[in-house]
Amino acid sequence: MTVSSERVADLGTVDDPIIEIRGLVKRYGAHTAVDGVDLTVRRNEIFGILGPNGAGKTTTLEMVEGLRVPDAGTVRVAGIDTAADPVAVKRIIGVQLQTTALFDHLRVNEIVALFAELYDADARREHVAHLIGLVSLDEKAGAFVNELSGGQRQRLSIALALVNDPAILFLDEPTTGLDPQARRSLWSVIEGLRASGKTIVLTTHYMEEAEVLCDRVAVMDHGRIIACDTPRALIQSLDQVATIRAQVTRTIAPARLTALPGVTAAELSDGQLELRSGDLAATLKALLDLAGELGIHLDNLATTGATLEDVFLAYTGRSLRE
Ligand SMILES: Nc1ncnc2c1ncn2[C@@H]1O[C@H](COP(=O)(O)OP(=O)(O)O)[C@@H](O)[C@H]1O
Ligand SMILES: [Mg+2]
Repeated sequence: MTVSSERVADLGTVDDPIIEIRGLVKRYGAHTAVDGVDLTVRRNEIFGILGPNGAGKTTTLEMVEGLRVPDAGTVRVAGIDTAADPVAVKRIIGVQLQTTALFDHLRVNEIVALFAELYDADARREHVAHLIGLVSLDEKAGAFVNELSGGQRQRLSIALALVNDPAILFLDEPTTGLDPQARRSLWSVIEGLRASGKTIVLTTHYMEEAEVLCDRVAVMDHGRIIACDTPRALIQSLDQVATIRAQVTRTIAPARLTALPGVTAAELSDGQLELRSGDLAATLKALLDLAGELGIHLDNLATTGATLEDVFLAYTGRSLRE
């Protein structure tokens, strides 16, 4: 047995923290882009940082990756301090690059082999085919990059981030600009990577993506983490569990609506009624009773559960979509 003098990464066990971020700060002049971020990412989870443009997601990610130097705070990746030993950290992480810079005159398998060689990783044909298979690009292995769709290019750039078989994969807005079908196919690629034991940290401004794909989500705004938990727990932490919508034929006095059991907010304009409720069944029953009493018909009655959009709204007073 040989004992390496190199620092060996401690990849830990399931539920162990694999990334620990403490008090992370980045300032640009007078502007604080990342304002005291504390986060813990567990091994083998899909961890999402959700926030609007300018929230500080990319800056945070780049400091964790060791690509930007923080003004304050520490990052430990698999027990290694990124500031103290950035080379050791780079060995165990994979970072998705911007695909716009990819070589149009090379084929998919040639690019993957080239990157594997650049990273001193396994560049043999079987390994290249394996990497291409991980991102479901088998049919396009011989295609030129300029023959790929946007979603396929994103998958190729993920394959390139995987050449050194990293324990942790960082994806910065991997599905931005993709159509819904391409987005879903990328989600299944990411889920497959998690199933193979990797930890994935991604950023997104799509609340549906965070909700469907991520095991845990950090909601970020103005450089700060305003909430961090599983999507389900974040949503359940809201009083409001559902929204009821209907078109009404006549107006109803606002006081009558807010007095309904479970209602946390009520809005009625242009015949469109919107009620937020912490007790859907009670509110719905009382609303139907009220409509009956007033002789008002409820058209297109529909209910939707709370989403991360509601979480963002509750914490910031703003919509994520704005
Ligand atoms: N190199 C830079 N110089 C100056 N300001 C920057 C720089 N990079 C980012 N910023 C600012 O920092 C804030 C956070 O940016 P960023 O991390 O890119 O947010 P996000 O990825 O969430 O959209 C924004 O206000 C942005 O304008
Ligand atoms: Mg960004």
